[in-house]
Amino acid sequence: MNTISRSVVKKDHEPKIRGESVFVNDYTAAGDARPILTGKLLHASVARAKVLSVELPELPEGYCYVDARDVPGSNHVLMITWNDLPVFCDETVEYIGEAIGMVVGPDDQEVSRILGEIKVNYEPLDPVLDLREATEAVRERDFGYGDPEKAFAEADSVIEEEFETGYQEHAYLEPQGFMAEPEEDGKMFVHGSCQCAYSVQDAVVSVLGCKYRDVHVLQDVTGGGFGGKEAFPSLLASQVAVAAQKMKAPVRCVYDRKEDLAYSFKRHPSLCRYKMALKDGKVTAVDCDIRLNAGAYCTLSGLVLDRAAATAAGVYSFPNLHVHAAALKTNTVPNDAYRGFGGPQVIFAMERLMDHAAKTLGADEVAFRRQYLVKQGDRTVTEGRHHFPVPLPEMIDMLDAACGYWEKHAAYAKPQNGRFRRGIGMALARHGDGLTGTTERDLGFSIRLRKHPDGRVEVLAANAEIGQGTRTTFPKIVAHELGIPLEKVSYQHPDTGRVENSGPTSASRSLMIVGELLRRAAIRLREQWADGEEQEVRESYTEPDFVISFDLDKFRGDAFPTDSWSACAVEAEVDSFTGNTEILSAVGVFDVGTPVDENIVIGQMEGGFLQGLGYASMEQMAYDGTGRIRNNSFSDYLIPTAADVPKLKTLLHVEEYPDGPYGAKGAGEMPLVGAAAAYAAAVEQALGTDKHRLNRLPITVEDVMKELYREEESDGHDSI
Ligand code: MOS
Repeated sequence: MNTISRSVVKKDHEPKIRGESVFVNDYTAAGDARPILTGKLLHASVARAKVLSVELPELPEGYCYVDARDVPGSNHVLMITWNDLPVFCDETVEYIGEAIGMVVGPDDQEVSRILGEIKVNYEPLDPVLDLREATEAVRERDFGYGDPEKAFAEADSVIEEEFETGYQEHAYLEPQGFMAEPEEDGKMFVHGSCQCAYSVQDAVVSVLGCKYRDVHVLQDVTGGGFGGKEAFPSLLASQVAVAAQKMKAPVRCVYDRKEDLAYSFKRHPSLCRYKMALKDGKVTAVDCDIRLNAGAYCTLSGLVLDRAAATAAGVYSFPNLHVHAAALKTNTVPNDAYRGFGGPQVIFAMERLMDHAAKTLGADEVAFRRQYLVKQGDRTVTEGRHHFPVPLPEMIDMLDAACGYWEKHAAYAKPQNGRFRRGIGMALARHGDGLTGTTERDLGFSIRLRKHPDGRVEVLAANAEIGQGTRTTFPKIVAHELGIPLEKVSYQHPDTGRVENSGPTSASRSLMIVGELLRRAAIRLREQWADGEEQEVRESYTEPDFVISFDLDKFRGDAFPTDSWSACAVEAEVDSFTGNTEILSAVGVFDVGTPVDENIVIGQMEGGFLQGLGYASMEQMAYDGTGRIRNNSFSDYLIPTAADVPKLKTLLHVEEYPDGPYGAKGAGEMPLVGAAAAYAAAVEQALGTDKHRLNRLPITVEDVMKELYREEESDGHDSI
């Protein structure tokens, strides 16, 4: 393995372990010692209504109510290119939880008391709550190649199935929180828990209607993101900035866990209808209809949809393809970025369809898959190219060697009639690395390295440490190229007032894209190195030459420069008396290119894989008939712990990417993407291969019981 892969102690390890890290909620005063006012949001309690009036109790001195009338600039939060989400509601509220206003004042409890006494008068409007009834597309894509219509018309048979996936809540340890401090020189200093400091700045500047240089944004120590702190912080930061501007004082708003679970953005629930044409035992065409529940506002749904669409056919290449994808508006909490970003939903659909097609043809599920695996040089679904080797065949072999897949699969295929029934399932997945389509190219992000006269080097970039190791791996790359000790290279939490815009911390791009800019900058600095001098080197992104430039309107070209790959297997045991399913073991083989720190990468693989298994098996979130999310605590939204997966193994296969640092590719999201499909396949096999179709996530005890009942009924036995 490359020497860069050797693990080091993470730079944020000590302060986090010692409890010394300062999160946004830990500040006892503003930077200049002024007291911090507390802001709490007035959330809408109906899914869709006209707000007729807000009746406030008498406000004690020093307390204030802030709403849309106080917004000096645009009342819409800019998120990349979308800005439909209001800072505070316009005339109507569109989901339960939408911010109507904010109560601000010095004492927490007094703020809560006032909030509790506010009365909002609504004129109710009919909400759309069900994705199946949603008709308004906030973003739509339609593309394909070949002649799928002809292939379907000439098919011997057509398999058509529907797949449904639910919410997933990020469940980061630290809830959402932001703070704004008006500074003496008239600037607004905004800081808090986030992944993308520059996106927050874009939003706050437009909301305050001020100049770009009048705002600077710092990412505070952040207790987890998983995508949940990509766009949401732009909303919360805008709200506290408006309040701070009005109060001319520092204002902080930190969500409590209940608020966070109920009102922060989630993973898009989805409804996919996939169709496959078969002729002479071969797949001749696939048709993918993808629907994502965008919730009440677009936020980043357009980008999530693009990634889902560009991942629609999973790891396969078919002769004819049609993809229709739509993100649809409902009056529920907005859905947004979550690790995998549209990938897990479509990979679930595609992998389940492959399993079921193989069963229909009486073929082995894996052998069937192998016939259609993409190879280097093949076209992608958007008619770009897979430019680099696709190591999936080797990865499947590695997986088998690690868990005895074939042997177990054959053993569990025999009829099982006892109380405990076992199954094993496999899924293959890809994750396009970096921002989808044109974003990386068009925005031309950059970094700087600053060398101080004493020889210390500072990384000036905007990517956030959210537990994934950026504060360590960025300096590690620079130290490696300069041949100096890691202690000599620092990477502070980014403040947009002093660092370069290296783009969002998203899309598994930080290490692969920004890390490569750092590597190149470090090489140049090494070449120019002059002892005792202050020196700076800047490096900007340019699209690699091999890339087939993406055309966003036609949705054609390389949606991503390269992909990460995974093959994973889950072994499960179903208790046919209780309907409970236990995961016996889970093995994942991941190709995320060269690990720039092996422990960090393994940590990412294990965490992401487990998160994917939670998504598949236990994380269930639902709203009631009024559109209110029913799970607002960790006692009724369950996430997996180490105890839920006693044997979890992750292995790395390294396919080096020439344009990533030392061959590194995107690692953050890949481990989550295929887990759910493998889990579903395992449970399906345990239940008895031919009779069942588990096409909905999460797979609950009730789902398993229903399948078991169905089985008994069809066998002519009495139900339990
Ligand atoms: Mo994001 S889901 O952190 O691209």
